[in-house]
Amino acid sequence: MPIRVSPLAEADIPGAVSAIHIRCRWGMRNGIFHVAKEEGSDEVLGVACWLRPQKAGQPQSWHDWIESWRLWFNQVGMNLYYGRGGLNVKRYYIWKAAQAEAQSAVWTDPRGYYFLNIMVVLPKAQNRGIGRLMMEAVTKQADAEGMSCYLESSRDVPNMQIYGRFGFKFTKELECDDDGTAIKLYTMVREPNATAPRMN
Ligand SMILES: CC(C)(COP(=O)(O)OP(=O)(O)OC[C@H]1O[C@@H](n2cnc3c(N)ncnc32)[C@H](O)[C@@H]1OP(=O)(O)O)[C@@H](O)C(=O)NCCC(=O)NCCS
Repeated sequence: MPIRVSPLAEADIPGAVSAIHIRCRWGMRNGIFHVAKEEGSDEVLGVACWLRPQKAGQPQSWHDWIESWRLWFNQVGMNLYYGRGGLNVKRYYIWKAAQAEAQSAVWTDPRGYYFLNIMVVLPKAQNRGIGRLMMEAVTKQADAEGMSCYLESSRDVPNMQIYGRFGFKFTKELECDDDGTAIKLYTMVREPNATAPRMN
């Protein structure tokens, strides 16, 4: 049967949730998946997903998986926002190529990096320290092991400033250019035990 790709509709939500469920189980086994909740409540206020460090040259199966998953997420978001259907596969490959180029320049530690792939706090719960708690759940482990962390921020303002508060420093801009439509990502690295620069 041919496969049809279409924008997510109200009736698709239960199926989409069940697909996410399967992926989350996979992530629990292969990555570092954290949620933040208020004590006594089951409501998830924040989610963070990390990839464990991989030595240079090691196959990146988990990495590839999460990237395709993020593509799916982004695409659904784009479709909802713009009302368009279909996967923009070309842009995915442009992004992957730009990412590989940036990482080969930025990733100098052969032991690899803790890679923050997803971090989101519900708007109503932002700026209450939840992002910091989720961040420190892994940066403390990285510090104890003497490992660095890496991320690609999709926004410069205010995200780079927020990540700077956790000791990340801007390293390289990653530009994905699709015939004039450019999307920028900002790569940042956190050295072991790095702290935020002093504020005046
Ligand atoms: C980025 C995000 C995860 C941060 O989570 P959060 O719970 O709001 O962050 P915190 O409350 O822990 O704040 C962390 C630090 O950033 C600072 N900060 C928070 N919002 C800020 C803003 N808008 N501008 C500048 N600094 C800010 C805080 O003062 C805090 O610093 P401190 O701990 O040294 O005092 C959250 O804002 C978010 O989900 N944003 C939308 C989704 C997104 O962009 N995800 C990342 C994709 S790259």
